[in-house]
Amino acid sequence: MPEPAAAATAATATPAPPVLEIDRLAVSFAGVPAVREISFSVKRGEMVGLIGPNGAGKSTTLLSIMGAAPVVGGEVRVDGASLRGRRTEDIARSGVALVPEGRHIFPGLTVAENLELGEISRRDDGSHPDSEIDVRELFPIVEEFRHRQAGALSGGQQQQLAIARALLSRPHLLLLDEPSLGLAPSVVEVVWSALRQIRERGVTILLVEQRAQITVQLADRSYVMNNGELRAELAPSEAEDLEKITTAYFGATAEGER
Ligand SMILES: Nc1ncnc2c1ncn2[C@@H]1O[C@H](COP(=O)(O)OP(=O)(O)OP(=O)(O)O)[C@@H](O)[C@H]1O
Ligand SMILES: [Mg+2]
Repeated sequence: MPEPAAAATAATATPAPPVLEIDRLAVSFAGVPAVREISFSVKRGEMVGLIGPNGAGKSTTLLSIMGAAPVVGGEVRVDGASLRGRRTEDIARSGVALVPEGRHIFPGLTVAENLELGEISRRDDGSHPDSEIDVRELFPIVEEFRHRQAGALSGGQQQQLAIARALLSRPHLLLLDEPSLGLAPSVVEVVWSALRQIRERGVTILLVEQRAQITVQLADRSYVMNNGELRAELAPSEAEDLEKITTAYFGATAEGER
């Protein structure tokens, strides 16, 4: 006798597409390849890490997702829809937010004014994550210093403001470019803890980082990028496997150079 449950599953087995699909993406600057046909995907609610040395192509990958890099091959899909030819502001309005390297807050404006700029690009299509994120609760410092000039905040506080501002647009896909850059270890922990909470609230995250080991621990899965290619995939249980991480980081040149 056929299993009714199995038959029902087979009939309805069209799984939702991943939130983010990078499909043979290639990017070149004036003919020089920066990203070489990489493919990976990020499912709803996942946090995926992208680590690798300077010049690996990490930021270029994030910029490609935002429609802001010279893509020469492949494509990026969000919720199954190709972003080919879409403009950056259009991509942002559809629920993708980037916290760029260097934070890019407006130092002459107050914290509150910086946050208002995030609210301007807020989507109101009802497709935001199930639970609303109260950024003021997540980053109390942002509330406490709301009337202060953003430029007067410390580096860690500015990073919290940059993430808070990105969240106010209610993204369902959050891209972060080296949020821990230049921060003291205690401040890095505040940022990590916020990322964990953001993930718990249903936002899908792609995290670019130079801090390899801690990223591998934190993310559901991490890819090591080097010379425009993905060289290894690491699970959190492999965070202590320094040999695997180092080999992927330095690749074929490991024996020659190190
Ligand atoms: N606007 C640009 N014009 C020309 N070349 C660029 C440009 N942006 C990046 N590149 C080159 O593309 C390659 C990848 O750069 P990318 O910034 O993506 O690296 P990254 O992994 O983010 O490095 P880092 O850790 O230093 O931030 C590098 O060789 C870089 O010099
Ligand atoms: Mg970079």
